[in-house]
Amino acid sequence: MTTNHGTTPLLEVRNISKYFGSVIALQGVSVAVNAGEVMCLLGDNGAGKSTLIKILSGVHSPSEGEYLVSGEPVHFASPRDALDRGIATVYQDLAMIPLMSIARNFFLGSEPTSGWGPFKRFDIGYANRVAKEELMKMGIDVRDPSQPVGTLSGGERQSVAIARAVYFGAKVLILDEPTAALGVKQAGTVLRYVAQARARNLGVIFITHNPHHAYAVGDRFTILKRGRTLGAFTRSEISREEVVRLMSGADELDALSHELEFLSERDAQDAQFSSTLSQTELEMAAKLD
Ligand SMILES: Nc1ncnc2c1ncn2[C@@H]1O[C@H](COP(=O)(O)OP(=O)(O)O)[C@@H](O)[C@H]1O
Ligand SMILES: [Mg+2]
Repeated sequence: MTTNHGTTPLLEVRNISKYFGSVIALQGVSVAVNAGEVMCLLGDNGAGKSTLIKILSGVHSPSEGEYLVSGEPVHFASPRDALDRGIATVYQDLAMIPLMSIARNFFLGSEPTSGWGPFKRFDIGYANRVAKEELMKMGIDVRDPSQPVGTLSGGERQSVAIARAVYFGAKVLILDEPTAALGVKQAGTVLRYVAQARARNLGVIFITHNPHHAYAVGDRFTILKRGRTLGAFTRSEISREEVVRLMSGADELDALSHELEFLSERDAQDAQFSSTLSQTELEMAAKLD
């Protein structure tokens, strides 16, 4: 299957559904991401974003639908299977150990060793050198890769996780709300690395509910709502204002403000009514309380 660009997507799902008992978390969702492209997945809480990325990253199997990697159907039994196919997911609560060094965290689970048998050691010199170099390639200058990861800011820690995924051969990078807990400047740092990953020809799936962060780096936008695709747009098809409007739930806000207006009118009527009560009536009511 090819897209209109004539390229096979790195990753694609077609008509994916996911049921948890009677809960329909996803229904008939299709998304694709190409190399060198940032696909933003937008949607309110409960829209199904996390469920979708858990399917993409091998945590859940879909109840229905197809999953293709570089055009080939896949059935992942675990996140390891997805990782082996180059699909790396950076979760919001990063799997990092704050007291361990940047270099140690960079190689967590894939430690380089020197020597053999009982003389086998974690090669710290090599780890420090590679971690520093790789972070430098992403534009992150850590003077000392042996300093604890806990001394880095939230944005820098996200960046280490991204650089690590890139180094270990990720083709697709899935980022679940990496900017959600960050301030403006820190979020900017992470957005820069998202753009860096794209420049290195990765496909990036960027989950956020901040439309400004999405529009800053997104090439394509998929909007989920209550488990369904509300729309899929390329950058040329949608303006920043439209992304903001779709994301803000502007229609629902209109309905809400209508309801609030109605309530405040009723409050005003109630207030008028109580002002007509006599003083003695109010005193009696107070005693009853
Ligand atoms: N393991 C689960 N068991 C039952 N329901 C779930 C499970 N995971 C998610 N859901 C439900 O699926 C829907 C989508 O959730 P989720 O994918 O977490 O949304 P989002 O990440 O967009 O906030 C929600 O109604 C949620 O309660
Ligand atoms: Mg979520």
